[in-house]
Amino acid sequence: MSQSPSLAFEVTERPDRLAEAERNVILANPGFGQKFSDHMALAVWRKGEGWGDARITAYGPLQLEPSAAVLHYAQEIFEGMKAYKHADGSVWTFRPEANAARFARSAHRLALPAMEEEDFLESLRALVKTDLDWVPDSTTGEASLYLRPFMFASEAFLGVRPAAEVTYCLIASPAGSYFSGGLKPVSLWISEHYSRAGIGGTGAAKCGGNYAASLAAQIEAGEHGCDQSVFLDSVEQKYIEELGGMNVFLVYKDGRIVTPELTGSILEGVTRSSILELAKELDLTPEERRISLEEWRTGAESGEITEAFACGTAAVVTPVGRLVWTDGEVRTGPEGEGGEVATKIRESLLDIQTGRAEDTRGWLTRLV
Ligand code: COI
Repeated sequence: MSQSPSLAFEVTERPDRLAEAERNVILANPGFGQKFSDHMALAVWRKGEGWGDARITAYGPLQLEPSAAVLHYAQEIFEGMKAYKHADGSVWTFRPEANAARFARSAHRLALPAMEEEDFLESLRALVKTDLDWVPDSTTGEASLYLRPFMFASEAFLGVRPAAEVTYCLIASPAGSYFSGGLKPVSLWISEHYSRAGIGGTGAAKCGGNYAASLAAQIEAGEHGCDQSVFLDSVEQKYIEELGGMNVFLVYKDGRIVTPELTGSILEGVTRSSILELAKELDLTPEERRISLEEWRTGAESGEITEAFACGTAAVVTPVGRLVWTDGEVRTGPEGEGGEVATKIRESLLDIQTGRAEDTRGWLTRLV
C-alpha cells in the first residue's frame, strides 16, 4: 500500500527560465543528456536526523567541499527513468516503484541511507510539475524527459566510513535517441582485458563506480570502431554479463529470447524485466540463463541466433549489428534498421510508455 510522502519539496521558481523559443529548439532535437531543465530537486540526509531540506530550486552547480567523501571514495548511486507526455497532456512515468526499489537496494550496498518510495516519487512529481514545459510530446517517436535521481556522500570528511551527510538530487534532461546516430544497429566490442564487476562486488547496484570501471573498455571499443563493449564474467571470462550501460538479449530462430541470468554482478534492468514479461504476449519464449560468448559467436554464424539487442531506460531497445573481437567479427542481426523481433519489442514497450497502447499491467504512474 502506498504511504504519504514524508518529504515536501518546497518550490522556489527561478526568475530566469529558458525562453520558450530556445527550449523548443532543444526539444526538437534533444539528443541524450546534454541539456537540462530549469530546476532540480534536492534533499539532505544527516545521521541522527534523517532526510530534510527537501526543495525544488534552480538547476545549477552544487557547492561541495573538496573533501566531500564522494570525490574520494565514490559513495554514490543513481537511477534512470523517463517521463512521457501523453496525447491529453498528462505526464506519466514507467514502473517508478521498480526504480525506487532498486535505488533502495543500491543504497544498501553502498552504505547510503534509504529513501522511502513515496519520497522518491514525490521528488519526481514535484520536479516534473515545475518543469512541465520541458516534457517533450511523446505521442510519436521516443522523445521523453529523462529523469536522473542520484544520491552521494556530501560530508566533508576523509576517513573511510559511511558518510554522515548525504545529498539527494534529481535532474531532468529532454531525451531522444541514446546513440548519436539515432536508431540504427550498434556494434559491440568484446572486452577481454577488463571486467565490469565481480562476485560480491557492486555489479548489481546502480552506482557510478560500475560505469567508471566500464570506461577503459569503452575506449577500446571506440578504437575498434564499436559503439559499446560487452563484459564477460570476471571468473571464467566466458559468459556474457552486460554492456557498458545496458542489458543484452539474444534472439533465437525458434522464438526464444535469452538474456544472461542475474548473478549478482549484473544490473537488474527495469527494461530487461519488462521485456521478459512482455515476451509471451508477443509469441516469444523468454529465458534467463548463462550464455557463453562461444554460444553467441557460433549461433550468429550458423543462423541459430538471428538477432541481438541492447536494452535499458536510455537505450529502450537498440539492435546490435556486429560483434567484434581481437581477431574477428560476426554479424549478429540484419543490416539496416535492425531485426523484426527487436523492432516488435521496442514498439510494444514504447507504445505502452507513451500512451499509444493500453497499459494493462498498471506499469504507468501519473506524475502530472
Ligand atoms: C539508463 O538506461 O537509464 C542508464 O542508466 C544507462 C546509462 C545512460 C548510464
